[in-house]
Amino acid sequence: MALEQTLSIVKPDAVGKNVIGKIYSRFETNGLKVVAAKMKLLSRADAEGFYAEHKGRPFFDALVEFMTSGPVMVQVLEGEGAIAKNRELMGATNPKEAAEGTIRRDFAESIDANAVHGSDSPESAAREIAYFFAASEVYGG
Ligand code: PPS
Repeated sequence: MALEQTLSIVKPDAVGKNVIGKIYSRFETNGLKVVAAKMKLLSRADAEGFYAEHKGRPFFDALVEFMTSGPVMVQVLEGEGAIAKNRELMGATNPKEAAEGTIRRDFAESIDANAVHGSDSPESAAREIAYFFAASEVYGG
């Protein structure tokens, strides 16, 4: 399997619950290394640009509202098959459907406030990493 990087976000609900460290621990104990990180309060424009592919969907405005409601922790994770591995650790989008032991099952309340984001493909990972980090801010490889 190839060494990959993926963009991960600890969303405002999980930052508010003070579980950044617990979520990082899931990454670290499962072969994912944090190679870039920043805490940031997203502006409306930041959130709308990040989720541009979902513009027009019924949940878009609520998603932007939620993602700007408090600071998020944004990180680049690196590891073998990091994109799929992170999605596996996160669990299903709806925490009620997420498998036992996943981040969303353990830390998220609802589909609207579901604790974490993870890139879903190599293309989205490349776009999303560049959205938040300059190449010089990523210490992987
Ligand atoms: S989908 O429905 O399979 O296309 O969803 P997905 O590609 O995972 O991305 C949807 C993102 O919007 C967030 N979100 C919701 N999705 C579906 N329904 C509702 N009500 C909803 N509210 C918010 C969802 O968490 C995905 O965000 P990210 O940050 O990618 O997890």
